[in-house]
Amino acid sequence: MNQNLKIAIQKSGRLSEDSISLLRKCGIRFDNGFGKLKSVARNFPLEIFFLRDDDIPQYVEDKVADIGIVGENILAEEKRAIEIIKSLGFGKCRLALAVPKSFTYDSIKDLGGKKIATSYPKILSDFLARHSVTAEIHTISGSVEIAPSIGLADAVCDLVSSGSTLFSNGLREVETVMQSEAALVARPNLDAPQQLILDKLTFRLTAVKAAEQNKYILLNAPDRSLEEIIKILPGIKSPTVMPLAEKGWSSVHSVIAENDFWEVIETLKDKGAEGILVLSIDQMIG
Ligand code: PRP
Ligand code: ZN
Repeated sequence: MNQNLKIAIQKSGRLSEDSISLLRKCGIRFDNGFGKLKSVARNFPLEIFFLRDDDIPQYVEDKVADIGIVGENILAEEKRAIEIIKSLGFGKCRLALAVPKSFTYDSIKDLGGKKIATSYPKILSDFLARHSVTAEIHTISGSVEIAPSIGLADAVCDLVSSGSTLFSNGLREVETVMQSEAALVARPNLDAPQQLILDKLTFRLTAVKAAEQNKYILLNAPDRSLEEIIKILPGIKSPTVMPLAEKGWSSVHSVIAENDFWEVIETLKDKGAEGILVLSIDQMIG
Protein backbone atom coordinates (compact mmCIF):
# COMPACT_ATOMS: atom_id res chain seq x y z
CA MET A 1 0.00 0.00 0.00
CA ASN A 2 1.20 3.47 -0.84
CA GLN A 3 1.96 5.30 2.39
CA ASN A 4 2.23 8.74 0.81
CA LEU A 5 -0.52 11.31 1.09
CA LYS A 6 -1.46 12.75 -2.29
CA ILE A 7 -2.28 16.44 -2.53
CA ALA A 8 -3.72 18.15 -5.62
CA ILE A 9 -2.92 21.81 -6.15
CA GLN A 10 -3.57 24.22 -9.02
CA LYS A 11 -1.10 23.89 -11.88
CA SER A 12 -1.14 27.52 -12.96
CA GLY A 13 -3.42 30.33 -11.90
CA ARG A 14 -4.43 32.44 -8.95
CA LEU A 15 -3.86 29.76 -6.31
CA SER A 16 -0.73 27.99 -7.56
CA GLU A 17 2.04 30.21 -6.23
CA ASP A 18 0.51 30.60 -2.77
CA SER A 19 -0.29 26.88 -2.55
CA ILE A 20 3.34 26.00 -3.33
CA SER A 21 4.76 28.57 -0.96
CA LEU A 22 2.43 27.44 1.84
CA LEU A 23 3.69 23.84 1.52
CA ARG A 24 7.27 25.12 1.47
CA LYS A 25 6.67 27.16 4.63
CA CYS A 26 5.53 23.90 6.22
CA GLY A 27 9.07 22.68 5.62
CA ILE A 28 8.16 20.40 2.72
CA ARG A 29 10.82 20.21 0.00
CA PHE A 30 9.82 19.38 -3.57
CA ASP A 31 10.47 20.40 -7.18
CA ASN A 32 7.81 22.03 -9.29
CA GLY A 33 9.46 22.01 -12.68
CA PHE A 34 7.48 23.43 -15.59
CA GLY A 35 5.07 21.03 -17.23
CA LYS A 36 5.39 18.57 -14.35
CA LEU A 37 2.26 16.69 -13.42
CA LYS A 38 3.58 15.20 -10.20
CA SER A 39 6.35 15.70 -7.69
CA VAL A 40 7.37 13.62 -4.67
CA ALA A 41 8.44 15.54 -1.57
CA ARG A 42 11.95 14.75 -0.38
CA ASN A 43 11.44 15.06 3.37
CA PHE A 44 7.74 14.43 3.98
CA PRO A 45 5.45 11.57 2.85
CA LEU A 46 3.61 13.74 0.34
CA GLU A 47 3.05 13.50 -3.42
CA ILE A 48 2.05 16.74 -5.11
CA PHE A 49 -0.18 16.67 -8.21
CA PHE A 50 -0.39 19.81 -10.33
CA LEU A 51 -3.88 19.99 -11.85
CA ARG A 52 -6.51 22.40 -13.22
CA ASP A 53 -8.19 23.92 -10.16
CA ASP A 54 -11.71 23.21 -11.44
CA ASP A 55 -10.91 19.48 -11.63
CA ILE A 56 -9.48 19.14 -8.12
CA PRO A 57 -12.74 18.37 -6.19
CA GLN A 58 -13.52 15.57 -8.64
CA TYR A 59 -10.01 14.08 -8.36
CA VAL A 60 -10.27 14.11 -4.56
CA GLU A 61 -13.72 12.53 -4.62
CA ASP A 62 -12.47 9.86 -7.04
CA LYS A 63 -9.48 9.12 -4.76
CA VAL A 64 -6.91 10.07 -7.40
CA ALA A 65 -5.76 12.53 -4.72
CA ASP A 66 -6.43 12.35 -0.97
CA ILE A 67 -6.49 16.06 -0.27
CA GLY A 68 -6.43 19.27 -2.28
CA ILE A 69 -6.19 23.03 -2.21
CA VAL A 70 -9.09 24.62 -4.04
CA GLY A 71 -11.24 27.76 -4.10
CA GLU A 72 -14.42 27.69 -2.01
CA ASN A 73 -16.22 28.97 -5.12
CA ILE A 74 -15.65 25.64 -6.88
CA LEU A 75 -16.77 23.71 -3.80
CA ALA A 76 -19.97 25.74 -3.61
CA GLU A 77 -20.75 25.08 -7.27
CA GLU A 78 -20.21 21.34 -7.31
CA LYS A 79 -21.44 19.43 -4.29
CA ARG A 80 -18.98 16.59 -3.86
CA ALA A 81 -18.35 13.95 -1.23
CA ILE A 82 -15.32 15.74 0.19
CA GLU A 83 -14.68 17.55 3.48
CA ILE A 84 -13.40 21.07 4.01
CA ILE A 85 -10.57 20.79 6.53
CA LYS A 86 -9.70 24.46 6.83
CA SER A 87 -9.80 27.82 5.07
CA LEU A 88 -6.32 28.93 4.11
CA GLY A 89 -6.60 32.71 4.05
CA PHE A 90 -5.22 33.26 0.54
CA GLY A 91 -6.72 33.34 -2.96
CA LYS A 92 -9.36 35.75 -1.76
CA CYS A 93 -11.74 36.71 -4.54
CA ARG A 94 -15.43 37.14 -5.21
CA LEU A 95 -17.88 35.73 -7.66
CA ALA A 96 -19.53 38.78 -9.19
CA LEU A 97 -22.02 39.84 -11.80
CA ALA A 98 -20.64 42.26 -14.37
CA VAL A 99 -22.15 44.09 -17.34
CA PRO A 100 -20.68 45.93 -20.33
CA LYS A 101 -19.99 49.64 -19.70
CA SER A 102 -22.85 50.56 -22.08
CA PHE A 103 -25.44 48.56 -20.06
CA THR A 104 -27.71 50.82 -17.98
CA TYR A 105 -27.76 49.09 -14.63
CA ASP A 106 -29.76 50.35 -11.65
CA SER A 107 -30.61 47.17 -9.81
CA ILE A 108 -30.52 43.41 -10.19
CA LYS A 109 -34.01 43.58 -11.74
CA ASP A 110 -32.32 44.94 -14.90
CA LEU A 111 -30.92 41.44 -15.47
CA GLY A 112 -34.44 40.01 -15.86
CA GLY A 113 -34.80 38.24 -19.22
CA LYS A 114 -31.11 38.76 -20.03
CA LYS A 115 -28.53 36.16 -21.02
CA ILE A 116 -25.74 35.68 -18.45
CA ALA A 117 -22.58 33.70 -19.21
CA THR A 118 -20.89 31.88 -16.32
CA SER A 119 -18.94 28.81 -15.22
CA TYR A 120 -20.98 28.81 -11.99
CA PRO A 121 -24.57 28.05 -13.12
CA LYS A 122 -25.78 26.61 -9.80
CA ILE A 123 -24.52 29.41 -7.59
CA LEU A 124 -25.85 31.96 -10.07
CA SER A 125 -29.30 30.41 -10.40
CA ASP A 126 -29.66 30.25 -6.58
CA PHE A 127 -28.62 33.89 -6.36
CA LEU A 128 -31.06 34.99 -9.06
CA ALA A 129 -33.87 32.96 -7.47
CA ARG A 130 -33.18 34.61 -4.09
CA HIS A 131 -33.65 37.97 -5.81
CA SER A 132 -36.69 36.81 -7.80
CA VAL A 133 -34.97 37.47 -11.12
CA THR A 134 -35.46 35.18 -14.10
CA ALA A 135 -32.59 35.21 -16.59
CA GLU A 136 -31.15 32.82 -19.12
CA ILE A 137 -27.96 31.23 -17.79
CA HIS A 138 -25.43 30.28 -20.42
CA THR A 139 -22.80 27.89 -19.02
CA ILE A 140 -19.30 28.11 -20.49
CA SER A 141 -16.13 26.63 -19.01
CA GLY A 142 -13.60 29.35 -19.70
CA SER A 143 -12.98 32.88 -21.03
CA VAL A 144 -16.37 33.96 -19.70
CA GLU A 145 -15.28 37.60 -19.80
CA ILE A 146 -15.32 37.76 -23.59
CA ALA A 147 -18.92 36.51 -23.93
CA PRO A 148 -20.60 39.96 -24.09
CA SER A 149 -18.19 41.35 -26.70
CA ILE A 150 -18.81 38.44 -29.08
CA GLY A 151 -22.57 38.69 -28.60
CA LEU A 152 -22.90 35.47 -26.63
CA ALA A 153 -24.36 37.09 -23.51
CA ASP A 154 -25.59 40.39 -22.05
CA ALA A 155 -23.76 39.98 -18.75
CA VAL A 156 -21.30 37.65 -16.99
CA CYS A 157 -20.97 36.08 -13.59
CA ASP A 158 -17.28 35.37 -12.98
CA LEU A 159 -14.51 35.41 -10.41
CA VAL A 160 -12.94 38.76 -9.70
CA SER A 161 -9.72 39.18 -7.84
CA SER A 162 -7.81 42.31 -8.90
CA GLY A 163 -10.57 43.28 -11.33
CA SER A 164 -8.13 43.62 -14.23
CA THR A 165 -9.80 40.90 -16.33
CA LEU A 166 -13.15 42.70 -16.15
CA PHE A 167 -11.54 46.06 -16.79
CA SER A 168 -9.63 44.98 -19.86
CA ASN A 169 -12.83 43.49 -21.29
CA GLY A 170 -14.88 46.66 -20.81
CA LEU A 171 -17.00 45.14 -18.05
CA ARG A 172 -18.28 46.75 -14.86
CA GLU A 173 -18.90 44.82 -11.65
CA VAL A 174 -22.45 45.32 -10.36
CA GLU A 175 -23.25 42.63 -7.75
CA THR A 176 -21.23 40.37 -5.44
CA VAL A 177 -22.62 36.85 -5.52
CA MET A 178 -20.20 35.18 -3.09
CA GLN A 179 -16.85 35.70 -1.40
CA SER A 180 -14.27 32.97 -1.70
CA GLU A 181 -10.80 31.94 -0.59
CA ALA A 182 -8.61 28.86 -0.85
CA ALA A 183 -9.45 25.89 1.36
CA LEU A 184 -7.85 22.55 2.19
CA VAL A 185 -10.16 19.67 1.35
CA ALA A 186 -9.90 15.93 1.97
CA ARG A 187 -11.78 12.84 0.92
CA PRO A 188 -13.62 11.20 3.81
CA ASN A 189 -12.40 7.97 5.44
CA LEU A 190 -8.67 8.24 4.81
CA ASP A 191 -6.66 5.17 5.83
CA ALA A 192 -5.09 5.50 9.26
CA PRO A 193 -1.52 6.14 8.00
CA GLN A 194 -2.77 8.81 5.62
CA GLN A 195 -4.89 10.43 8.29
CA LEU A 196 -1.76 10.62 10.43
CA ILE A 197 0.13 12.43 7.65
CA LEU A 198 -2.80 14.81 7.16
CA ASP A 199 -2.83 15.56 10.91
CA LYS A 200 0.89 16.34 10.76
CA LEU A 201 0.36 18.60 7.77
CA THR A 202 -2.59 20.49 9.32
CA PHE A 203 -0.55 20.94 12.52
CA ARG A 204 2.17 22.63 10.45
CA LEU A 205 -0.37 24.66 8.44
CA THR A 206 -1.91 25.95 11.65
CA ALA A 207 1.53 26.98 12.92
CA VAL A 208 2.37 28.78 9.67
CA LYS A 209 -1.03 30.56 9.58
CA ALA A 210 -0.75 31.60 13.24
CA ALA A 211 2.75 32.95 12.59
CA GLU A 212 1.48 34.99 9.63
CA GLN A 213 -1.19 36.57 11.81
CA ASN A 214 1.19 37.53 14.61
CA LYS A 215 4.35 39.55 15.19
CA TYR A 216 7.07 39.25 17.79
CA ILE A 217 7.58 42.51 19.65
CA LEU A 218 10.47 43.69 21.86
CA LEU A 219 10.55 47.01 23.64
CA ASN A 220 12.02 48.92 26.54
CA ALA A 221 9.53 50.11 29.13
CA PRO A 222 9.87 52.43 32.09
CA ASP A 223 9.11 50.35 35.21
CA ARG A 224 6.41 52.83 36.26
CA SER A 225 4.20 51.83 33.28
CA LEU A 226 5.23 48.16 33.22
CA GLU A 227 1.95 46.93 34.64
CA GLU A 228 -0.13 48.78 32.03
CA ILE A 229 2.14 47.67 29.19
CA ILE A 230 1.90 44.03 30.26
CA LYS A 231 -1.89 44.33 30.12
CA ILE A 232 -1.70 45.54 26.49
CA LEU A 233 0.68 42.72 25.52
CA PRO A 234 -0.82 39.48 26.78
CA GLY A 235 1.55 37.30 24.70
CA ILE A 236 0.99 33.56 24.31
CA LYS A 237 1.06 32.92 28.06
CA SER A 238 2.35 36.21 29.44
CA PRO A 239 5.13 38.50 28.23
CA THR A 240 8.77 38.03 29.18
CA VAL A 241 10.02 40.90 31.33
CA MET A 242 13.73 41.37 32.04
CA PRO A 243 15.41 44.24 33.85
CA LEU A 244 17.68 46.47 31.75
CA ALA A 245 21.16 47.47 32.94
CA GLU A 246 19.77 50.99 33.32
CA LYS A 247 17.81 51.25 36.56
CA GLY A 248 14.06 51.87 36.30
CA TRP A 249 13.73 50.21 32.86
CA SER A 250 12.80 46.75 31.67
CA SER A 251 12.84 44.88 28.38
CA VAL A 252 9.49 43.34 27.41
CA HIS A 253 9.09 40.56 24.80
CA SER A 254 5.71 39.42 23.54
CA VAL A 255 3.55 38.41 20.58
CA ILE A 256 0.87 40.66 19.07
CA ALA A 257 -1.81 40.08 16.47
CA GLU A 258 -1.11 41.59 13.07
CA ASN A 259 -4.67 42.98 13.00
CA ASP A 260 -4.42 45.43 15.87
CA PHE A 261 -0.72 45.99 15.33
CA TRP A 262 -0.63 49.77 14.73
CA GLU A 263 -3.11 50.58 17.48
CA VAL A 264 -1.08 48.59 19.99
CA ILE A 265 2.16 50.31 18.94
CA GLU A 266 0.57 53.75 19.38
CA THR A 267 -0.73 52.91 22.85
CA LEU A 268 2.66 51.51 23.83
CA LYS A 269 4.39 54.73 22.76
CA ASP A 270 1.88 56.74 24.80
CA LYS A 271 2.80 54.66 27.83
CA GLY A 272 6.46 55.57 27.40
CA ALA A 273 7.76 52.48 25.57
CA GLU A 274 11.01 53.01 23.61
CA GLY A 275 13.18 51.08 21.18
CA ILE A 276 10.24 49.06 19.87
CA LEU A 277 11.33 46.23 17.54
CA VAL A 278 8.79 44.19 15.61
CA LEU A 279 9.83 40.94 13.96
CA SER A 280 7.94 38.49 11.78
CA ILE A 281 7.52 34.94 13.04
CA ASP A 282 8.26 31.86 10.90
CA GLN A 283 6.28 29.29 12.86
CA MET A 284 4.11 29.56 15.93
CA ILE A 285 3.21 26.49 17.94
CA GLY A 286 0.58 27.16 20.62
C1 PRP B 1 -10.51 33.79 -12.63
C2 PRP B 1 -11.52 34.45 -13.55
C3 PRP B 1 -10.74 35.52 -14.27
C4 PRP B 1 -9.66 35.87 -13.29
C5 PRP B 1 -10.00 37.15 -12.57
O1 PRP B 1 -9.95 32.65 -13.21
O2 PRP B 1 -12.10 33.54 -14.44
O3 PRP B 1 -10.18 35.03 -15.46
O4 PRP B 1 -9.56 34.80 -12.34
O5 PRP B 1 -8.89 37.68 -11.90
P1 PRP B 1 -8.58 39.26 -11.91
O6 PRP B 1 -9.80 39.97 -11.35
O7 PRP B 1 -7.39 39.41 -10.97
O8 PRP B 1 -8.25 39.69 -13.29
P2 PRP B 1 -9.35 31.34 -12.38
O9 PRP B 1 -8.29 31.77 -11.45
O10 PRP B 1 -10.44 30.53 -11.80
O11 PRP B 1 -8.63 30.53 -13.54
P3 PRP B 1 -9.32 29.56 -14.61
O12 PRP B 1 -10.50 30.33 -15.11
O13 PRP B 1 -8.23 29.33 -15.60
O14 PRP B 1 -9.69 28.33 -13.86
ZN1 ZN C 1 -10.61 28.16 -12.26
